[in-house]
Amino acid sequence: MSNIKMRKEWWLSIRLIHWSVVISVFSLMVSGFYIATPLSITAGPTADKFLMANVRTIHTFFGFLLTFLMIWRAYLGLFANFHARWVDLLAWTDLGNLLAQVKFYLLLSDEKPKHKHQYGPLQSLAYTGLILLQISIILTGLIMVGANFHAGLSAGIGTFLKPLEIALGGLAGVRLIHHMVAWGFILFVMIHVYMAIWVDIVYKEGTISSMISGRVFRKVE
Ligand code: HEM
Ligand code: HEM
Repeated sequence: MSNIKMRKEWWLSIRLIHWSVVISVFSLMVSGFYIATPLSITAGPTADKFLMANVRTIHTFFGFLLTFLMIWRAYLGLFANFHARWVDLLAWTDLGNLLAQVKFYLLLSDEKPKHKHQYGPLQSLAYTGLILLQISIILTGLIMVGANFHAGLSAGIGTFLKPLEIALGGLAGVRLIHHMVAWGFILFVMIHVYMAIWVDIVYKEGTISSMISGRVFRKVE
């Protein structure tokens, strides 16, 4: 006999951050790939040709928003006393459970991995990878923003990050790395959304709606 128990899985702050990150990343992808291969506008007065500058302003706005959201999420992960803390990123260190999850996903075993942390072992690896992607794209992005200013906060950040800019081979190297990491985000989103749908269908615990309502529904034996 099994009954279903409701559990509060995601706090409002985490859900707000999640969907704001989604909006930022999608806006950054669209504006970023436009910056990489812009339209060539030839006819008309120069004063009307402002599309690239507008797209760059949008990109920089969402870039700073993503930076702020990441600092907020890191603060919660380190200091808040609810779920989804930094220790949950270590779920993959339980190698037995990691193997159990790989076998379950490859349909080699019908035994589900144990739910010891907020994240599953593979999920914790994916989120660790995402954090590395976020840090790389934010640092390279901030260097490029800083290069456009001679005074103020952006210029100050640019000066602070100068040693990193030099280590990466100057602005051209920074731009190339920023562009390559952007593809890492596309890879993450594809796998992440596929897995969210897969887990929702297979586990039947309301995974996708949990990121909206905050609640999952687990079977208790
Ligand atoms: C998911 C996050 C992001 C994605 C997918 C993304 C994507 C891109 C892409 C594809 C480019 C074009 C590179 C090229 O010319 O080949 C670009 C340029 C740029 N990005 Fe991002 N970016 C992201 C985050 C950020 C952040 C966080 C910042 C800053 C805070 C930022 C600032 C910039 C700047 C300043 C440029 C150069 C614009 C120019 O050439 O004038 N980006 N981005
Ligand atoms: C740029 C796109 C996305 C990024 C960067 C992202 C990132 C994340 C992160 C970091 C988490 C863990 C929550 C935390 O502890 O902060 C998460 C969870 C989740 N995301 Fe996303 N996400 C994205 C898009 C989406 C989309 C489009 C969906 C809708 C299908 C989605 C559905 C979920 C769900 C259902 C969870 C909870 C998974 C669970 O039960 O463990 N995400 N996402």
